[in-house]
Formats: sequence, C-alpha cells, structure tokens
Amino acid sequence: MYKYDAIDRQLVNERVAQFRDQVRRWQSGELTNDEFRPLRLQNGLYIQRHAPMFRIAVPYAMMNSAQLRTLASVARKYDRGYGHFTTRHNLQLNWPKIEDVPDILTELAAVEMHAIQTSGNCLRNITTDQFAGVAADEIIDPRPLAEILRQWTTFHPEFAFLPRKFKIAISGTEEDRAVTWFHDIGLQLKQENGETGFTVIVGGGLGRTPIRGQVVREFLPWQHILSYCEAILRVYNRFGRRDNAYKARIKILVQALGVEEFTRLVEAEWEHGKDGPATITQAEFDRVAAHFTAPAYSAEAADDSYIAARRDAEKPFARWLERNTHAHKVAGYAAVTLSLKQHGIAPGDITSEQMETVADLADRYSFGELRISHEQNVILADVRQGDLYAVWQAARDAGLATPNIGLLTGIICCPGGDFCDLANAKSIPIANAIQARFDDLDYLFDIGEIDLNISGCMNACGHHHVGHIGVLGVDKNDAEFYQVTLGGRQGNEAKLGKVIGPSFSAGEMPDVVAKIIDVYIENRQDEERFLDTFDRIGIDPFKNRVYEGRAHGKAKAAEKEAA
Ligand code: HEM
Ligand code: SF4
Repeated sequence: MYKYDAIDRQLVNERVAQFRDQVRRWQSGELTNDEFRPLRLQNGLYIQRHAPMFRIAVPYAMMNSAQLRTLASVARKYDRGYGHFTTRHNLQLNWPKIEDVPDILTELAAVEMHAIQTSGNCLRNITTDQFAGVAADEIIDPRPLAEILRQWTTFHPEFAFLPRKFKIAISGTEEDRAVTWFHDIGLQLKQENGETGFTVIVGGGLGRTPIRGQVVREFLPWQHILSYCEAILRVYNRFGRRDNAYKARIKILVQALGVEEFTRLVEAEWEHGKDGPATITQAEFDRVAAHFTAPAYSAEAADDSYIAARRDAEKPFARWLERNTHAHKVAGYAAVTLSLKQHGIAPGDITSEQMETVADLADRYSFGELRISHEQNVILADVRQGDLYAVWQAARDAGLATPNIGLLTGIICCPGGDFCDLANAKSIPIANAIQARFDDLDYLFDIGEIDLNISGCMNACGHHHVGHIGVLGVDKNDAEFYQVTLGGRQGNEAKLGKVIGPSFSAGEMPDVVAKIIDVYIENRQDEERFLDTFDRIGIDPFKNRVYEGRAHGKAKAAEKEAA
C-alpha cells in the first residue's frame, strides 16, 4: 500500500495548519461565510440539512487497519459513532462541528489521510476497481497509475478552479468495474499489438444530465495518460462553461462541440505535451509500483477440506461464500466483501465498532489492509481460503456478513432527505422498506443478480440511472415521490435505464419492486438474469404490471407529470 514520503507528509500537514487558521479567522469574524465557503469546500466540508458534512478521501479505495481505527475513533469522538461510505471511495461524516474539523484533520494526517479535493470545482479522488492488484482477471495493476494521477492532480495549480468538479476513474481489467463510462475521464484498459494502454472515454456523468461517455482515443499507451489527461483538462478549462453551474461539466462541452471537434482540440493540445516531461517512464512507474508490493502470500498449498466441510454443513456459510467471496489471482486466497447492506441499516453506513472489527479482521487475516468498494461495501482483499470460515463467523457477529452482494437488497443508496440539503425525497427508508420486503434469503437467491440503486434527487449520487432497477426521489407538490427506471447498467455495456412511467409514493415502492420481480420470474428462461430477461422482453410487460388497475390514476399522474 502507498506510504507517504516526506513531501506528501509536509503537504498534508501544511494544509491542516492552513485550514486551522482559516477556521479561526472565520470564527473570529475576519472571514465572512461567503469567503469561508470555498475554503471549507476545498477541505471536504459542506453545510447540510442538520449539520456540516465532512468528506474524507480514501484514494483508489485502499486503507490500512490503523487508518480505519482512526476513522472509528474520529467518528466516535467528533461525530455520532458512524460514517457513510460513498460510491467514489470517500467516507462521509454527517454530524461534525466545523470548529472540530482542524482537529479531525490533524488526527487523520497522523495516519496519512486527508480531505483534500473531496469537494469543490477541482480534480476529485481518483477511483479504480476495488479488486485492483488481486483480481484474477487483471491485466495491469491500476494502482500505481492511480497514485501517479493522484500526485499529479493534487494541488495542480492550473486545475484548482475548473468550471466544475472533475472525476477520473481507471480500470485495469477488460471488464470495467470502475464505472469508466460515467466519469469525466474514464481510462479503460485496452491491449493492442502486445502493448498495454487505455481507451480514453470523456464526458460521461450522471447527475441531472446523465450521459454515457464517448471515446476520444481508442488506444493510448499507458505512458501518456498524464499528458493526455492534461490536454483534455486544458481544453475543458478553456472552453467549459462557467456561466451556468448546470451546464459546466465537461459532458456538456463534449456534447456542445461534438466529439469529433472536442477530440480535434484535445489532440491539437496534446501536440504540446506529448512526449514531454509528463510522459511516465518505466522507472517512475516502477518507483511508485514499489509502494504496492504484494503481501507475503503463503506458498503452502491450501487445505480447503475444512472449508468444504463447513460449506456442506452450513447453508448460511455456503451462501456467504457464493455471494461475498471473489476469485483471487494467487492460489489459496480469496477476496472477501464485508457487506454494509445489512437489512434495515442505512446502506453504506458503518459504525465505529464495526470499523474496529474490520480493522482487527484485516490485521489478522488480510495483511492489515482493506478496500472500499464502489458499491459501498468493505473488502478484505487477501484472505487465505482456510481462514474464510473464521472471517465469516466474526463478520456475521458484527452484522457484516449479509450474503447480498450483487443481489436485490445490496442496494447502492445516497443519504437522501435524511441528511442531504439538496434531496427531493428520502432514500434510506425506501431502501430499508425494500430490504424488509425481500428479507427471505431463499427468494433473494432465487431472483439472482439485480442492482437496485436509489438517489434522493436528480444529482444521482446513488447512481440510480445505472441500476438494473433505479429509484429516483422526486418532488411533486411538496410531497415525496419516486420515479423508477429499468435496464440501466454499469460495466462494459454501460447504459442508462429507461423511465417506466409516472412516479410512485413511498408506500407503493416495495410493491412496485415486487411486481417488477414477478414479471421477471414469470418470463425468465433457463438461467436468464433479470437484465437478460429485461433485454429480451422490453419494458412494456413491466410497465403494464406496475400500473395495472391504475389506468385512471395513471392518466392523471401522467398529466401532472407533463405539467
Ligand atoms: C450529502 C451530501 C452530498 C451532496 C451535497 C452531494 C452533491 C452532489 C451534486 C450536486 C451532484 C451533481 C453534480 C453534477 O451533476 O454536476 C452529485 C453527484 C454525484 N455524487 Fe454526490 N453529494 C452528496 C453525497 C454523495 C454520496 C453519499 C455519494 C455516494 C453514495 C455521492 C456520489 C456522487 C456521484 C457518484 C455523483 C454523480 C457522478 C457525476 O456525474 O459526477 N455523493 N453530488
Ligand atoms: S442524490 Fe441528491 S439527495 Fe442524494 S446525496 Fe446526492 S444530492 Fe443529496
């Protein structure tokens, strides 16, 4: 795992001291709220519905146990004893006091953590695949490149005041697990003529104008990712709109110019930087890669007879093995997902006690390291197969072993109206109501892989557009309603879901999901997954079922919707 050097440490410590002084000046009235706003945003501090919200970065998803223990203690000491993991490798605290944040940052800096560029119109946290470095299907470990990107983007003076926020994701496997099609820049691994590089995707994003990214370069050798990203950012910085926040993201620029013209501008800009000092040499790659050396895996052949026996004897363990463990590139090891999707708990939330349990598990069974997934779960990436039963028992006792990874109740969900000032509707209670309705594990396993994503407003923090079933909170005459989309997906075939029709009340939502599932069950052929059936039969059978008996209401609702 990446260890700070003296420069990293100095940068982070100086930033803490600077922010401490800014908070002091704001408290004493030397800085107005308006003057303080961009300063706090640069340090991950928002003002929300009930309290400030503080966002801490977990660069490319990796943490060690000491860092997680510090997060546990910070959450306990300065917040309400829990945190919320987001889809872009951050931890959010919902209840800190502004005046405590300099102390929080000091404690974080001591374990090489920070909140730099977790908000504001700058380059945000670089994200990648949570299984980076251990995935059995990995072609190139994206973490050294993500770290090089992190170093390049941190405090980059030219890109500190972009028209709007900017998000980069990088994937080192042929199957995209980093949502590269829906980032401002997505770097998707590609191999060509024996060379390793990336397809460069630009202008993807969710939010109020969801757009799938477009390819600006089919193949870019990995050595050029910095200079090419720089060219893209320069074009964006120069031509991106600054007059209207809703039209300021790069996706709007790419649409306005057309991808051909945008690409032409980028390629022309790249002429200046190509093969220049931003070219990543093998020596630089190796220097950074040395921070990501593999743990000391045991070469001893694993005896999996004990695990096999437990699996045969205990169905809950077998289920957990099926859903929560993943292929590892080293024989005898597995990656484990600890589910933060226990039914009835806010998806993505983790208590201080659970963080400490995870830190202990990481120390004992996974070389002291862990990851955060895009789906808001925690990963122990390097667990010996023979330890899986012990890990399962400890995880189960801590409420972290719900076997719903990739299943309907493993919901991605934003904080919604319970916390967020921008929300149209609550999202956590909808997630919990759906979990309660689908609490029967036999049924949940039978209906198989389904991504259900919920956002409390069109900003789409819960990725509803790319859920197989997406739920979006909308406001209708000051009441909370929910619009449903079907058929969205992330991955290589990423696409946006289709709106099924007029929205539903909160109380209707579990039934609506149940009806959608019924249509799937009635129509599925052989081993078809939900998405396969949806692609084959289209949206109409689902639409007909959810609005059955609502013909009159439907027409009325449609009228209102159109208004
Ligand atoms: C509660 C505080 C939060 C606020 C005020 C907030 C605000 C926003 C806004 C305004 C946007 C739209 C940006 C745009 O379209 O230009 C957005 C997008 C997004 N947010 Fe949040 N967010 C919050 C929490 C979260 C959480 C908890 C997550 C993860 C669960 C998250 C993940 C995302 C993602 C993935 C996007 C869309 C991706 C994109 O197109 O950039 N945010 N957020
Ligand atoms: S989707 Fe809307 S409600 Fe949910 S966190 Fe984002 S801004 Fe808030």
